Amino acid sequence: MTQHTILSRLMGEMIKYDSGDVKRIQHLVKVHDFARIIGIAEGMNEEELFVLEAAAILHDVGIHAAEAKYGNCSGKYQEELGPDEARKVLSGVEGFSDGQIERICWLIAHHHTYTNVTSKDHRILLEADFLVNSFEDNISTDGIIAFRNNVFRSHSAITLLNDMWNIKQ
Ligand SMILES: [Fe+2]
Repeated sequence: MTQHTILSRLMGEMIKYDSGDVKRIQHLVKVHDFARIIGIAEGMNEEELFVLEAAAILHDVGIHAAEAKYGNCSGKYQEELGPDEARKVLSGVEGFSDGQIERICWLIAHHHTYTNVTSKDHRILLEADFLVNSFEDNISTDGIIAFRNNVFRSHSAITLLNDMWNIKQ
C-alpha cells in the first residue's frame, strides 16, 4: 500500500470519528493541506512528510475526549488526551510502524506547545494550524503578526500567512 493510500484511508477514518462535527472535519482537512504544502516547500523527505501529514489529520483528535472529561477543550487537555484517541483511530488503518505512531502521538501531545520548538515537523504543524485558526478564530491583524513573529519560522509558512492576509510588514 502506498503512503498516499494510507493517508487517504486515515482521512476517511478521522472523518468517521468526527462524524456530524462538520466544523472540525473542515478544520482538519485544511490543516492537513497547509501542512503538506509547507512540508514539501521546506524540503521534507517522504518519511517526514508522511508522519507530518498523519499528525495534521489527527492533531485535534483529543477535543471530544477533553470536552467529555473536563467540560472544556483547552489545549493542555487536548494534548493530554489526544494520543490515546489517535491510537484508536490509527488502529483502524494498516501501514503505520510503531515508530511512526510514536512520533505522530508526540506531535499531537505538543501541538499547543509553542516554546522550545526545535523540530521541523513540530514547527510546521503549529504553522499549518495557525494558518487555519487565524481565519476560523477571527484573530486581529495585530494578533496574527504577533503570532507569526513569535512562532513562525518556516520561510514558506511566513509567505503563505503574509500573502493570505495581505500583510506587508
Ligand atoms: Fe487545530
